[in-house]
Amino acid sequence: MDKLVIEGGVRLRGEVTVSGAKNSVLPILAATLLTDDACIIKGVPDLRDTSTMLKLLRSLGKNVEVDKGVVTVTAGKAANYIADYKIVSTMRASFCVLGPLLGKLKKARVSLPGGCAIGTRPVDLHLKGIKLLGADLKVEGGYVIAKASKLTGVHMYLGGVYGSSVLATDNVMMAAVLAHGKTVIESAACEPEVVDLAEFLIKMGAKIKGHGTPIIEIEGVRHLHGAAHTAIADRIEAGTLILAALITKGDILLKNCNYRHLGAVIDKLEEAGAQFTRTEGSLHVRYQKPLNAVNITTLPYPGFPTDMQAQMMSLMSVTSGISVITEKIYPDRFMHVAELNRMGAHIQREGPHAIVEGIKELSGAPVMASDLRASAGLVLAGLAARGKTQISRIYHLERGYENIEEKLQKLGAKIWRERE
Ligand code: UD1
Repeated sequence: MDKLVIEGGVRLRGEVTVSGAKNSVLPILAATLLTDDACIIKGVPDLRDTSTMLKLLRSLGKNVEVDKGVVTVTAGKAANYIADYKIVSTMRASFCVLGPLLGKLKKARVSLPGGCAIGTRPVDLHLKGIKLLGADLKVEGGYVIAKASKLTGVHMYLGGVYGSSVLATDNVMMAAVLAHGKTVIESAACEPEVVDLAEFLIKMGAKIKGHGTPIIEIEGVRHLHGAAHTAIADRIEAGTLILAALITKGDILLKNCNYRHLGAVIDKLEEAGAQFTRTEGSLHVRYQKPLNAVNITTLPYPGFPTDMQAQMMSLMSVTSGISVITEKIYPDRFMHVAELNRMGAHIQREGPHAIVEGIKELSGAPVMASDLRASAGLVLAGLAARGKTQISRIYHLERGYENIEEKLQKLGAKIWRERE
């Protein structure tokens, strides 16, 4: 297994291009199951999670070709409707093949994804929505077994205890596009990745309105055809790079960056004293003066993203003052607290809150990555720390950040990989 080694203290400077959004690409690839025609998806980042989705599509009978970020999916000899535990258990987003399989083949057998380091992560909302469309569902041997002679559009409320669900909205939308009649999803997720999926489905011939708002309306059609689509830029990768600039007192121009998808993050950072220049397709961030501590609360989009919480905690741990970070999406998503404290941070967890008392400087230490975004938080801490940080279990990072070492190296960071 590899570990990442970072020699901290270098101000990052230069230009970097943001990759296509992992969280857009995964459901979009699943949506290719809705047609037998060829689909071409561009801007697919080379990541462990995208490879897992391609493996799943192959196991479901698709032919998949990959060429420099362009994925072509065509029908294979026979479609399979069983999404195996071995694949689904490694990546939760694979559960969103349920909707398209059921929509197209009228049957699906999809392994339940199970929990992960950031919490139990139920799928009750996915199942509720699919059931309301008229599917027969049962759970047997760890699999959801779904059948429907016909799916019928319905008006449903899909909000849960923690608000809307991104993948449940995706799953239900993908089942509803081929249902009979009209489906209305109330309390739908508004994330840009849901909008991107809807745009792809529309290119395939689906009739969808209201995507990007909490009420999505879908008029079922009989048939979807092939389409080509370019995924939006990854707003979480962009946000992580913005924080890499600020935590190292640097100056970075992000290309292929849609600043409109980063409203809550940019607003908080401006409140903290950071300076941004927004242009169409790019964003310039520079550190000009010491930042102030700010409080953040994670919320569904357009609120502050939970996927930026760990990275923001790293920044606040070296920002003078006290910051209260409240996690409202995954109340147990705090595995990085203990690791940051090993680097000298002063962070105390109180239920769904972390109280961060900013210190002058972190000191490099061996730390362990526990999940994807926690790993990104540790990389940021390592970039700012005095001395050497060694991050183990970096396979988490490889799930979601394309060429992260190369990108950071190009900006001047001293970061490299070593065998453990
Ligand atoms: C997606 C993102 C993930 C991000 C998360 C929240 C992808 C591939 N992943 O995950 O990076 O952290 O959105 O922005 O897009 N919930 C239920 N029942 C359900 C489904 C979810 O209670 O059936 C809860 C979850 O436990 C969580 C909240 O709803 O508390 C939001 O989760 P959800 O939006 O579903 O996350 P994902 O779509 O799995």
